[in-house]
Amino acid sequence: MNHPSPLAEIVSTGRYLPDCVVTNDDLAKRMDTSDEWIASRTGIRSRRIAGPEVNAAIMGAGAARAAMDEAGVDPGEVDILILSTATPDRWLPSTACDAQALLGCGNAVAFDLMAACSGFLYALSMAEGYLCTGRGEVALVVSTEKMSAIVDWEDRATCVLFGDGAGAAVVRPANGSSRGILASHLRSDGHLANLLYRPSGGTVEPMDADVLERRSHLIRMEGREVFKNAVRSMAEASDIALRRAGLTAADVDLMVPHQANFRIIEATAKYSGIPMDRVYVNLDRFGNMSSASIPVALDEAREQGLIGDGSIVLSAAFGAGLTWGAMVWRF
Ligand code: COA
Repeated sequence: MNHPSPLAEIVSTGRYLPDCVVTNDDLAKRMDTSDEWIASRTGIRSRRIAGPEVNAAIMGAGAARAAMDEAGVDPGEVDILILSTATPDRWLPSTACDAQALLGCGNAVAFDLMAACSGFLYALSMAEGYLCTGRGEVALVVSTEKMSAIVDWEDRATCVLFGDGAGAAVVRPANGSSRGILASHLRSDGHLANLLYRPSGGTVEPMDADVLERRSHLIRMEGREVFKNAVRSMAEASDIALRRAGLTAADVDLMVPHQANFRIIEATAKYSGIPMDRVYVNLDRFGNMSSASIPVALDEAREQGLIGDGSIVLSAAFGAGLTWGAMVWRF
């Protein structure tokens, strides 16, 4: 079967996870919830939480160093650093610039990309475009999320879902190789912004005592609506990306979906025709780390030998925006 010729490939991956493990039982000690409720509805059993000294740039730089070490890339070789985050350390400058300084990537264009949980796939697609137009040889894609800083710890319906962590990938032009990004499909729909958002704290309703009192600078979510949209969008995007790659579900060696909810993953895999023994799941240990979920899962799956030379991997993501998409790689 003819596959499109890839323009860019992931040559290495890395991850950073804070040490502190918070289990569902730990949460049940501080709010009205239970391991049974959380695990049965989401599949999540624990998550990592970063301490006050660990911010998004530090986690991102940790993941990036691991990826750069594996690829044998020196900081000065990085031409572009795209950092996806929904939890920037500060509003100005970008967290990418803080990570660039920590890493010493002195020759890199660095900027943040905000596409919530779809951020890794969006950032890879931007890196692919930058590299294939000849503007650089090495792209560093970093997804880092300190979700614990933006969830409302008084809202048990959302705070139990998220965790902190970072993942990264070094991306290079494919240069005629058959490995790389075979196809992708990315979309957004801002009409559904209010399903998952932080109402205040930006320029529309700047932070003040009233915002703090109402806690409206923290995440608000319509869980059920998000659930329905997630399954529909990820399944459809996976289908389109596979078709564009000239492949079918039977060709997929491993699916690495965004890790929001086990039931969302199961339903998406079912729609896509991929059995669960070919789907990578780590949300039981890490919860939803927004855009960091996919690269952390990819890195673990490569380490465990689930992805090897020539493996066809399908990834699908969904998140605030709404944003969603899917990508197919040959490793
Ligand atoms: N512990 C115990 N009870 C809880 C709870 C918790 N952590 N959170 C909510 N509840 C309660 C609610 O108060 C509600 O009680 P009520 O019936 O007395 O009002 C009940 O459980 C059911 O709440 P509901 O929101 O209808 O549950 P649900 O079955 O829709 O599951 C989610 C909630 C959030 C798990 C589910 O909607 C979901 O996973 N949605 C997708 C969210 C997501 O993944 N977002 C990120 C996308 S990137």
